[in-house]
Amino acid sequence: MRTQGEELITVSGLSAGYGTVPVIRSVDFTVHTGEIFAVVGGNGAGKTTLLSTISGLLHPTSGSVRLAGTDITGWSPERIVAHGLVHIPEGRRLFTGLTVAEHLRLGLWNVPNRRKVERERTDRVVDLFPVLGERMDAYAEVLSGGEQQMLAIGQALMREPRVLLLDEPSIGLAPVIIQRVFAVVDRLREQNLTVILVEQRVNQALALADRGLVMRHGRIEVVGTAAELAEDPVLRAAYLGAAVAGEQRNKE
Ligand SMILES: Nc1ncnc2c1ncn2[C@@H]1O[C@H](COP(=O)(O)OP(=O)(O)OP(=O)(O)O)[C@@H](O)[C@H]1O
Ligand SMILES: [Mg+2]
Repeated sequence: MRTQGEELITVSGLSAGYGTVPVIRSVDFTVHTGEIFAVVGGNGAGKTTLLSTISGLLHPTSGSVRLAGTDITGWSPERIVAHGLVHIPEGRRLFTGLTVAEHLRLGLWNVPNRRKVERERTDRVVDLFPVLGERMDAYAEVLSGGEQQMLAIGQALMREPRVLLLDEPSIGLAPVIIQRVFAVVDRLREQNLTVILVEQRVNQALALADRGLVMRHGRIEVVGTAAELAEDPVLRAAYLGAAVAGEQRNKE
């Protein structure tokens, strides 16, 4: 197993929901620098809500989130991004009418010295995703689903974040493309980037992850190393259901 880096994200007693409806309840876990941390669980378990609460899109009703020792609870999403945590939402959320190059440039929004770093960072993204280099002037809406996911990740990487929150990057992609996206996540780990990966493809996510957790009805059911989770009887039973649900959604 990998040696653990320092504690980078510490989630303590985190609860949040929509209006008066609670969704996640008393969630506690830590993620270390350089880890790929998988968050798995069935539809409606609260995975997206958890990511949104960490990235400041939702305000917690109680509990806290610390990033590299700084309490970021209640910070605006913009301030959290500037502090090095970037959330790539479910469904990629690209802009129609903007090209690949424009999306990458947009990733540098608010970055100091962005004109100076643009070329070097673009080169780094293209090195990870050569297909983006070939399609710099293409509009986002004409890209394939896989290319769009790569662009969404590439745009986030332009900021050189410390932490990436990645919500279901495999949705709607063919298996061979999913493998390519996961291979890139694996390479990000080599660069000491920390990734929280929400996935319905439990098998593949655990093969990639160092540690992770299983959510159910807004609570953590198990947290541990990827190997421990893969052995967990509750997850193994639930996983078959989740895998089928994921496959059905991918056919839509
Ligand atoms: N914007 C919202 N307003 C009200 N309720 C919401 C909203 N988003 C999600 N919920 C509810 O919160 C619960 C958790 O949803 P969430 O999207 O966090 O689950 P998830 O684990 O990401 O599911 P999926 O695998 O389908 O993406 C569900 O019961 C859902 O209906
Ligand atoms: Mg979700």
